[in-house]
Amino acid sequence: MQKITLSKCYVSAEVEEAALRALRSGQYILGKESQAFEAELASYTGVKHCILGSSWTLIVYLLHQLQGIGPGDEIIVPSHTAFPTMEPLIHLGARPVFVDVDDTFVMDLGQVRAAITPRTVGIIPVYLYGHPVDVHEVLDIAAKHHLWVLEDCAQAQGAKYRGKTVGGLADFGAFSFFPSKNLTVLGDGGCIATNNTQMAERLRMLRNHGRQGKYDHEFPGYNVRFNEINAAIGRVMLKHLDEFNENRRRIAARYNDRLKGIVQTPPEREWAKAVYHMYVIRCERRDELQKFLKEHNIDTGIHYPKPNHLQPAVTALFPYVPKLPRTEQFVKEILSLPIHGEMTVETADRVCEAIGQFYGKKPS
Ligand SMILES: Cc1ncc(COP(=O)(O)O)c(C=O)c1O
Repeated sequence: MQKITLSKCYVSAEVEEAALRALRSGQYILGKESQAFEAELASYTGVKHCILGSSWTLIVYLLHQLQGIGPGDEIIVPSHTAFPTMEPLIHLGARPVFVDVDDTFVMDLGQVRAAITPRTVGIIPVYLYGHPVDVHEVLDIAAKHHLWVLEDCAQAQGAKYRGKTVGGLADFGAFSFFPSKNLTVLGDGGCIATNNTQMAERLRMLRNHGRQGKYDHEFPGYNVRFNEINAAIGRVMLKHLDEFNENRRRIAARYNDRLKGIVQTPPEREWAKAVYHMYVIRCERRDELQKFLKEHNIDTGIHYPKPNHLQPAVTALFPYVPKLPRTEQFVKEILSLPIHGEMTVETADRVCEAIGQFYGKKPS
């Protein structure tokens, strides 16, 4: 039986041609391809500016630095997310204030309200697995308390909230182009989306040694630049993003139909159009099921096995450990099933049959 992988990157003749075009252009960093990719991303996201950087983590670090984040500041984040969500602010001496998740695996907004203190400066809702947060609610809370909001869209490129593309709905949106992501550049990369022109200009300078012209440095910066081969590849991927997301939704619908009554399938809010970066079930005997699927040549994942509020990197700095019962329970039950932009329904069916076999129940 052929192996079913958890995810798969789109690699085709047009992707290879784009990479070659960049390779032969003689320009390798922040050139025409990067500029075009930024413009196309901004238009897709519906914002004035997209600023590329070498990863989500680093471009967000630069953004937080420009925001003046530092010791004493508190930022509200869900614990159930990829570790990098709160990494940049920890580096700047700020404190992540962790909240629990709801049944769609995104931050519980009741807890966000309760977590605000006079030291709170911002909120980072994470659109985990590709499902948005009720961002209008988040913006209401933020407006009342004069907080900024950064949408972590690393897993949600192309997702919609009340018909609007995520990433341009708050002060800032941040994307990752890591290979497994819905929109990848087949390498590392990230970007900030914003309508704030002044911040965009400073971010562009900060990622490139604080310079305006070639040898005019207005302030010390970094090298967090983007390269042309990845940009050329990203432009091809962006053209296919909606089509691949539609396919992910088709696969998710198939899993929902066939697995209901066997495991807990992921809910989707009526105002959301999720893009299923991951299709995550909750189930009993999770580790045994994972082993059984592996024996049947089906890869799965656990995103993430250890909540961030319990990570040694966090508890060493912030000894007060909150109790987040849903997060702590979910990490024992979650399992990510194979899904990607080119996956077929027949492949999803093979996964469903194997899960049915494990639990001794026939998929519907
Ligand atoms: C939710 C989330 N935020 C942030 C990141 C960090 O992205 P990058 O690897 O581009 O730094 C990731 C990727 O792992 C992610 O999944």
